Amino acid sequence: MKKWNDSPKIQELLSRMTLQEKIGQLNQRNICAYDEHVEEIKQEVREGKIGSLLFSGSAIPENGGMEAFDLDFTRELQEAAMESRLKIPLLLGRDVIHGFETIFPIPLMMAASFDDRLIEECYSALAAEAGNAGVRWAFAPMLDLSRDPRWGRVIEGPGEDPLLGSRYAASAVRGFQGGSPAQEGRLLACAKHFIGYGASEGGRDYHHTEISDYALQNQYLPAFRAAVRAGVGSVMASFNELSGQPVTGSRRLLTEVLREQLGFDGFVVSDWGGVEQLEAQGVAENGADCARLALQAGVDMDMADQCFARHLEAEVMAGRVSMEEIDRAVERVLQAKLRAGLFRQPVRETVNIDRVKHRALARRIAGESMVLLKNDRNLLPLSKKGRVVLTGCMAQNRDSLMGAWTPDGSADSVITIEEGIRAVAPELELFTESCTLLSDMTAVMEQADTVILALGESARASGEFHCLADISLPEDQAALALRARRLGKKVVGLLCFGRPIALGDTISLFDAVLYAGHAGCEAGMAAAELLFGDRNPSGHLSMTLPRSVGQLPLYYNAAPSGRPVNGYYTECRNYIDESGSPLYPFGYGLSYTSFQVEKARLEKETLSLAELSAGEKAVLHVWVSNTGERDGDTVLQLYLRDPAASMARPLRELKAYERRTLSAGETAEFVFRLGLEELGYYLPDGLLTLEKGEIQLFAGFDAWAEECAKLRIV
Ligand code: GLC
Repeated sequence: MKKWNDSPKIQELLSRMTLQEKIGQLNQRNICAYDEHVEEIKQEVREGKIGSLLFSGSAIPENGGMEAFDLDFTRELQEAAMESRLKIPLLLGRDVIHGFETIFPIPLMMAASFDDRLIEECYSALAAEAGNAGVRWAFAPMLDLSRDPRWGRVIEGPGEDPLLGSRYAASAVRGFQGGSPAQEGRLLACAKHFIGYGASEGGRDYHHTEISDYALQNQYLPAFRAAVRAGVGSVMASFNELSGQPVTGSRRLLTEVLREQLGFDGFVVSDWGGVEQLEAQGVAENGADCARLALQAGVDMDMADQCFARHLEAEVMAGRVSMEEIDRAVERVLQAKLRAGLFRQPVRETVNIDRVKHRALARRIAGESMVLLKNDRNLLPLSKKGRVVLTGCMAQNRDSLMGAWTPDGSADSVITIEEGIRAVAPELELFTESCTLLSDMTAVMEQADTVILALGESARASGEFHCLADISLPEDQAALALRARRLGKKVVGLLCFGRPIALGDTISLFDAVLYAGHAGCEAGMAAAELLFGDRNPSGHLSMTLPRSVGQLPLYYNAAPSGRPVNGYYTECRNYIDESGSPLYPFGYGLSYTSFQVEKARLEKETLSLAELSAGEKAVLHVWVSNTGERDGDTVLQLYLRDPAASMARPLRELKAYERRTLSAGETAEFVFRLGLEELGYYLPDGLLTLEKGEIQLFAGFDAWAEECAKLRIV
C-alpha cells in the first residue's frame, strides 16, 4: 500500500510551519451552518489555528431544524483557509452514515443484504451526494461489532459477525474512496470507532467494555483489518474504556495494534471530546495531561474540545511533548489532505447526481435487506386484488423509517408503508386509518380478513445515547396483534424497528412477519413489493434475534462449554424460565421459494500446514438447489468449527458467504476457497495461527447450517 508520509511537498510545508500552525492542523472545531460562531471560526482559520471543521449540528432529520451547510458555505470556509499564511486547506467532515439526500437503510439492515457489491454502490452514491455539498470526509463506516441490541448504536454498524463486518467495511471504504478520495464524487472514509465500543456493558452507551485480547483479535479487529486493507484514510478513536484503558489514551491500542499490527498509515481523530474526557475516565489529572496522553497514544486530530489547541504548545515548551511527536501527527493530517486532493482542489465542482438512480439503489437494497422471519401456510405474498387492512403506528410514518443519523435527510423524501402498498397494489381494497389509538385501529380491523400491522419504534429510540433496557415488542403493539388474532384475522407483522427486538411469545400472534427495519426513503415501496410478491424476500439477519432481553448478550459464535448448556443448536435450558436458544439465529431469512444444499465436496480432504502456509487453499464445492416454484436470491453461508485447538474456538464461525439468484428448479455450484486466514485464528498477541487436526465445515442458510464436510490439517 502506498505510504503517504514521504511526500516532498509535505516535508517542505512542515519545515515552514510554526509550532502554533502545526498545532492548528491538529485542531478540529465543530461548526453549525450560519450560527453565531462562524465569523470567529473563520478568523481562527485565517490565523492557522484550525485544520478541520466538522458539521455536526444534530443527528436527526433536517439537521434538527438548523441550517444545513452547502457548497457555498464550505467555499466560504475554504476561502478563509486560503487567506492563511500557508494556505493549507481545511478538511471538512460530516456524519454521512447511511444517507445524505437519499436515505438508505440503516447499516444494520444493509449488512443483512449480504450484497457486498450493492453496498459499495450505495456508499458511492452517498459520497457523490455529500461531495456536492462540500463534504470531503465522512465519519463512516461505523464498524463496531455488537452483540447487544439494547445499545442504540447497533443500528449504525454491520451487526455481530466479524466476517460480515469485514466485508461491509471493505465495501463501504471502496464506495466512499473509490480509486482515490481525490477523485470527483469520492471522499475520505473514517473507520470508527476503534475499538470495542460495541461491547458497552449492558448496552449502556459510553460504558465500560471488558474485552480480552483473544476476543479483540478475533471478534472486534477483523472489520478494522479489512478497512485498513481497503486503504481507509482515517480512523476514529472510540469513547470507551477497554479493560481499564480508555482507548483515546491507549498507545497499545492506537499505535501498537492499529498501526504496528494492522499497518494503518492514515490519521486518527478522537471522537467528540474524547481527549478531554480522559480526565473523567480517570487517567489524566487535567487538560494538559489529556492532550499529552492522547497525542502520545496516537491521536493525531482532536475533535471539538480544543484540548490540543489549549495545551500542546505549553507541553512542548515544557519538554513533555517533543516536536517530533507534533510533526508526526501534523504529517499524517497533511498527507490525508494531500490524498483527498484538497491542495489541488480545496473546493470541487459539483458532479451530476442521478437521484432517480440513487432512489432505485435505495429501494433495491431495502428490498434485499428486509428479512422474512415467518410465513405460515404461505400467507405471503398477498393477492393484489384482495381486501386488506393496514394499521399500526408505522403505517403512515415517514421520519422514523429513515432511521437515526440522517441529518441531511428529509421526511418528505420518504414513501410511507401505506403509499407503497397503494402504489404496488392499486386494485387492492385497502382499509386504513391514520390513527394511533388502539380502539380506532381495532375498529378498522373489522373490514377485512387479512391485517397488516405496521409496527416499530421511533428513529429516536436508537442511535447514539439512545439505548433501551427493554427491547420487547411494546405492549400497545402486542395488544393490537392480540386483538387481531382474537378477531380471527390473518395477521402480517411488518416490523419497522431499528434494532433487533425480543418478540418472545408474541411471535405466535402473527401468521407472517417481515422484519422491515428502518429502511430509508424507499422503505414503503420495498416493503410493499415484498408483501405483494413483486420481489422475493432475501435478507438474512445480521444480528441474532433473542426471545427475551434476559438472554442478552446472545450471539451465534459463542464459545463451547463443558456442558451442553451453551450449544444452543439443541433445545437446551440455560435458564429455568427461558430457552437458551435465540428466536431466530444470525444469518436466518426465509424466501417465497426454498433452497437446499444438495451436496458438498472438498477437492482435497487433507492439507498440510506447510501447503496452507505456502498459500494453498482448501477448495469446497457446494451444490444448492432452488426447490420451489419461483426464482429467488439465496445467501449460502459457510461456517467452520475447530473442535480442538490451543484456544477454545467458537461453536461456529462464518468464513465465507455468497449471494446468488437461482431460478426455480435450478441447481448451482458454489465454490469457496479457504486459506490460512480463513481456517486459522488469532492468538491473543495477534499471531495468526492454525494447528493440525480436524476442521468441521457447515454450509447452509443461517448459523444453524448442517455439517457438510471435514477437512484434516496435517
Ligand atoms: C459523535 C459520535 C461519532 C460522530 C461524532 C461527530 O459523538 O460518537 O460517531 O462521528 O460525534 O458527530
